[in-house]
Amino acid sequence: MEITSLVTGGAGFIGSHVVNHLLKQNHKVVVLDDLSGGVQENVNDAAIFCEGSILDVDLINTLFEEHKFNYVYHLAAYAAEGLSHFIRNFNYQNNLIGSVNLINASVTYGIKCFVFTSSIAVYGTNSLPLVETQYPQPEDPYGIAKYAVELDLINANKMFGMDYIVFRPHNVYGIHQNIGDKYRNVVGIFMNQILEDKPLTIFGDGEQTRAFTHIDDVAPYIANAVNVREAYNKVFNVGSDTVYSVKELAIAVCKAMQSNLNIKQLEKREEVIHAYADHSSFNAVFKPKTLTDLETGLLEMAAWVKAYGSRSSKEFQNIEITKKLPASWKKKSGQ
Ligand SMILES: NC(=O)c1ccc[n+]([C@@H]2O[C@H](COP(=O)([O-])OP(=O)(O)OC[C@H]3O[C@@H](n4cnc5c(N)ncnc54)[C@H](O)[C@@H]3O)[C@@H](O)[C@H]2O)c1
Repeated sequence: MEITSLVTGGAGFIGSHVVNHLLKQNHKVVVLDDLSGGVQENVNDAAIFCEGSILDVDLINTLFEEHKFNYVYHLAAYAAEGLSHFIRNFNYQNNLIGSVNLINASVTYGIKCFVFTSSIAVYGTNSLPLVETQYPQPEDPYGIAKYAVELDLINANKMFGMDYIVFRPHNVYGIHQNIGDKYRNVVGIFMNQILEDKPLTIFGDGEQTRAFTHIDDVAPYIANAVNVREAYNKVFNVGSDTVYSVKELAIAVCKAMQSNLNIKQLEKREEVIHAYADHSSFNAVFKPKTLTDLETGLLEMAAWVKAYGSRSSKEFQNIEITKKLPASWKKKSGQ
């Protein structure tokens, strides 16, 4: 029998790779994406593409009715963590209420498993390494929305028996990433700045650290998770173990792009300074292959970015709070 999966956010970065892996496993794939962050050219032609929003309950019900999904992979979100302080209403509508709309339909139509990409943003400033047994203490509206969805999935499982799997990825980079969003994706931002002959902008001293993760170390495992029974109703950190400072990342990106290092330091912003995660639960259940090293991953992405060209960053149109908004995120006149 044909397996049918819905991938929300399937025109985006991680979602489009998940779609490709599902198609390889012979799923019939329906993509729901409003193209607010993704582009249709990311969507594999073998998938059915529906342009629309997870906020459109009628559309969601129509899709569930028509396709009788076995699995839902919910990746649609606006993942601009730093900006989420200033777009609180939008963040909760899009990332929390939109998710609840999908959970409602998934319960009603009796899907087999709901796969959700949360984030290590749920941990906030916890002791390192971040581990799934820690009590989440998100420090921004993006992380709060992600954790609220996780809690809602636990509740939907208890109340209605709907199975779920939660992934908490971190700092993923690679082909298909939106490099034209100045509010997120530091690897893409740096590469875009190099293509535009601009200095690489860093908030503060660049000593903040992250474990940058190649897409191939995330997407195939998300796609295959529904076949891993042991993963059901559990939460997994997923991503790289090797930590780099943002300044070290800038140097590595310049090397991959064959460009000279030119950094412009911006005023420090409100953010978690150090974040890296423990992956022992993920390793025990998914038994992953060796992780892609940063140099190899950046070279692959750099080749794609050079062929793809630079992208101009759009201003987010509906900033709700301007107090403490970083100066580089303030609207320039005429935009
Ligand atoms: N990239 C990372 O490092 C990272 C880390 C942790 C978690 N995540 C999570 O993984 C998921 C995918 O992230 P990504 O990096 O691929 O981002 P992305 O922006 O490339 O993809 C998200 C997609 O969702 C779509 N979308 C947004 N709002 C929508 C709506 N209301 N209705 C329909 N579609 C909508 C966008 O158009 C976009 O194509 C997100 O849920 C994100 O929070 C990503």
